[in-house]
Amino acid sequence: MSLSEYIDYPRWPQLAEESLRIDVRLPEKVKVGEKELTYSKKFRGIVISGMGGSGIAGDIVRDTLQDMIDIPIIVNKDLHLPSYVNDDYLVVAISYSGNTAETIRCYESCIEKGIPVITISTGGKLRELAERNGTPHITIPKATAPRYGLPCLLYSCLRAVGKALSIEDKVLSLAENSINYMRKALDDYPTRFKALADKLANKFTMIYTPSPIASLGVRFKNDMNENAKQPVAVCIIPESEHNDLAIHIREIENLEILVVDAPSIRNTEHGVHVTALMKVLEELGRRFHKIELEGDSRLSEIVYGVTGLGMLTIDIARIVGVDPVKIEAIDRVKKYVTSRS
Ligand code: F6R
Repeated sequence: MSLSEYIDYPRWPQLAEESLRIDVRLPEKVKVGEKELTYSKKFRGIVISGMGGSGIAGDIVRDTLQDMIDIPIIVNKDLHLPSYVNDDYLVVAISYSGNTAETIRCYESCIEKGIPVITISTGGKLRELAERNGTPHITIPKATAPRYGLPCLLYSCLRAVGKALSIEDKVLSLAENSINYMRKALDDYPTRFKALADKLANKFTMIYTPSPIASLGVRFKNDMNENAKQPVAVCIIPESEHNDLAIHIREIENLEILVVDAPSIRNTEHGVHVTALMKVLEELGRRFHKIELEGDSRLSEIVYGVTGLGMLTIDIARIVGVDPVKIEAIDRVKKYVTSRS
């Protein structure tokens, strides 16, 4: 398959650069009806609220920034915000289409409670509401479907959170560097990832991912589900060493195992856990595929993995004979929910 057949992947670096350039202007205050939303303060936490291909941008932003800052980044993939979220928090409501019911609901509860909120979308209802209320909005470039627009969602969200926390320069340099690893993954794809397609086609996959880069495992699961229509279990190390590892004393049919390793993990306590897990799998006689990431930061590693593994799921879709773009069951449930609400 030539690179041009991987849907939007060949233009990911360009989409990433374009999205990173979008300037984010944060007002000091916005008055909506009786409520005043204050953006110029030290926040107690950041909530990134979104679903599926949009929500995953929040997971990656959390993995990237959480250890660099002194407040929590909470990823909310739900209809409601956690009850402790008040006007001391900043909410980023992110939806590629701008029409996802759960994300719109969270935006509306920010307005009701006077919680400062930034929206990110290609347009849709979310942008309409933001324009009506005068809350900051970022319009991102379009792709074939939300999940293929990850660079737009991720880099605009990183920039917005960087701005809100006044660490914009640091975030910009991390982000710019990571785009080099996105390019590298596109180049490395045929030699580093593609051979796995035949092995994983029509199989159930367990992906073991160390917790500091857990978002990569979640994104792989989502891509495999939506593109290849195959099931995946995300096993986060070290938690998985306390439960799902137990199953491997049995030989399970049609199961493939991936273990993710990364430079930022090696020589750390997490690295010890990854090594221990691989050792035990070997002792039990279980075959696994090691995914060795490349990168000079957590963000670069995740971006490298997300690009290579994402393309892999497109190859798997073609091998198993499904259309990677169509997600009929998801469209049906959205229609059903919309007609009842
Ligand atoms: C489709 C996809 C989905 C959507 C999700 C939310 O490509 O990735 O997981 O991202 O249904 O929709 P949006 O992103 O428009 O809020």
